[in-house]
Amino acid sequence: MADATPRKPAKATLLILGGSAEAADLARAAVERFGKRLRVVTSLAGRTAAPKKLAGEMRIGGFGGEEGLAAYLQAEDVRLVIDALHPFAVVMARHAVEACAELSVPRLALRRAPWVRQAGDHWIDVPDAPAAAQALIERGVTRAFLASGLKDMAAFAGLPTIWFLVRLVDPQPEPLPLERYGLIFARGPFDAAQDELLLKRHGIEAVVSKNSGGKASVAKIVAARALNIPVVMIAPPAPPPGETVATVPAAISWIARHL
Ligand SMILES: NC(=O)c1ccc[n+]([C@@H]2O[C@H](COP(=O)([O-])OP(=O)(O)OC[C@H]3O[C@@H](n4cnc5c(N)ncnc54)[C@H](OP(=O)(O)O)[C@@H]3O)[C@@H](O)[C@H]2O)c1
Repeated sequence: MADATPRKPAKATLLILGGSAEAADLARAAVERFGKRLRVVTSLAGRTAAPKKLAGEMRIGGFGGEEGLAAYLQAEDVRLVIDALHPFAVVMARHAVEACAELSVPRLALRRAPWVRQAGDHWIDVPDAPAAAQALIERGVTRAFLASGLKDMAAFAGLPTIWFLVRLVDPQPEPLPLERYGLIFARGPFDAAQDELLLKRHGIEAVVSKNSGGKASVAKIVAARALNIPVVMIAPPAPPPGETVATVPAAISWIARHL
């Protein structure tokens, strides 16, 4: 006999490309607001060993390029994509642009505003990590706080005159490609007063930072301002093409319009 029980319609899936504080906030807000109608999945690259639990579902690991992402969107019947990536995650952002365009899946980018220079800041603006390394050399810096992430570390290799203080989330299996360095492990959000102590304790003469905006990692910038220390600031890449919003409420309104 045929099963007469009506099948529950599957919920539409929202895929959030995560890795930023805003992605976590968005997942929470989307589950709260649309949880009855929407399956909320946040994707993480898997760079940290024990990521914080997020609202809704989590999936971890690369998709396998643009084709892999397109296959995932189809297999999971993803109706909406919000790219809430860290502003420097440009490869994944490009894959999302391409896969969503190919399958006509609506896509939004959520990008927080970059930090802007304030009174008392001594920023040295550079376009990328190699230029940041060059700026340290030109200024004769001997002790720098390298807060620009593991990915661009190679740009600071082969600099025997500079000792780097590097803050990472997890210990790494391999030594860093730096001549001289010290490591600390911590996960944001960071505190400005504690970062000030850290910079003082290690005799830091310059901070290297990506201009990634947001609150979670601004502490080092505030601390450098307080201590009159220069910040070698790496400019953020242009956001991906298409609609971009800067806040979680604006992203929630976009979901409401597209459901
Ligand atoms: N770049 C930074 O400074 C920075 C800082 C803090 C946090 N993050 C976060 O860390 C992650 C990796 O950043 P990245 O700069 O290495 O990225 P990326 O260079 O743009 O991406 C490299 C590859 O990593 C995979 N990937 C990246 N983000 C993913 C995600 N959210 N879900 C599934 N796979 C993802 C993709 O692999 P496949 O091609 O196999 O799909 C992608 O091609 C991102 O989620 C980003 O938001 C980055």
